[in-house]
Amino acid sequence: MSKTLVGVVATFLAAITTAGVVVYTGAFDVAADTPHAAVTFRLIAFARERSIARRIKDITPPGDLGDVTRVRRGAGNYAAMCSGCHLEPGVETSELRAGLYPQPPNLAKSATGRSHEAGDAARKFWIVKHGIKASGMPAWSKGGMEDAAIWDLVAFVQRLPKMSASEYRELVESSEGHSHAGSQRSPVRSSAAKGILDPHESGHRNGDRHAR
Ligand code: HEC
Repeated sequence: MSKTLVGVVATFLAAITTAGVVVYTGAFDVAADTPHAAVTFRLIAFARERSIARRIKDITPPGDLGDVTRVRRGAGNYAAMCSGCHLEPGVETSELRAGLYPQPPNLAKSATGRSHEAGDAARKFWIVKHGIKASGMPAWSKGGMEDAAIWDLVAFVQRLPKMSASEYRELVESSEGHSHAGSQRSPVRSSAAKGILDPHESGHRNGDRHAR
C-alpha cells in the first residue's frame, strides 16, 4: 500500500471516529435555538438543492399557473395552512416561525435567497408535496392534498411577493377557504391545526396578526 493511500485511510478512520465520539457523548447540540456551524448549514442546503433538482426533472407545471382562479383557490389554503410559518404581506413574524430552525422562508418576500430560476414552479410543487426532512416543512400529500390543489398553492405562492396586504386579504376572503381534496371541509378545523396555525381561533392571543 502506498504511503498516500495509508494517509487517506487513516484520515478517513479518524474522521469517522471523531464523528462517532461527538454523537455518542451527546456533544452535538440538537437544540433549535443553537444554529448549525456555517459550513454545516451550507452543506445541508447544498444537499437539499441537489436532492430536489434530481427529483423534479420529470415534473411539468400546468400552463395556467398565472390564472387568477388558481391563485384564488390557493389563497384560502395558504391562509389556513401555510401563513403561520411562511407569513403574509405586512406581517413580519409569527410565534411559530420565530422558533423554527431552519426558519421557514418568508414567502411574501421575493428574496428568500434560494434558487428561483427555471424549474421554480416544479421545485415548489415538489417541496409542498413531499416536504423536507427534519425542517418542519410537512409533506402535504400525506394529509391528502391532491396535485391540483398543490399547483393552486404554487400559483398563489408565485404571485404572493407582488401582493399588497389588502390584495392578499381580498383573495383569501373571496376564496373557498381551507378547501382542498382530503381536507376537512367543515368549518370546524382540527384543534391541532387551529392551535398551531390560527392562534386567534384557539383563543391564544399573542399579538400576531393573521388574516381571517
Ligand atoms: C410548520 C411550519 C411550516 C408550515 C406550516 C409550512 N411550511 Fe413550507 N417550509 C417550512 C420550512 C422550515 C421550510 C424550509 C425548509 C428547509 O430549509 O430545509 C419550508 C420551505 C418551503 C418552501 C421552499 C421555499 C424556498 O424557496 O426554498 C415552499 C415553497 C413552502 N415551504 C411552501 C409551503 C406551503 C405552500 C405551505 C402550506 C401548504 C407550507 N409551506 C407550510 C415550514 C413550514
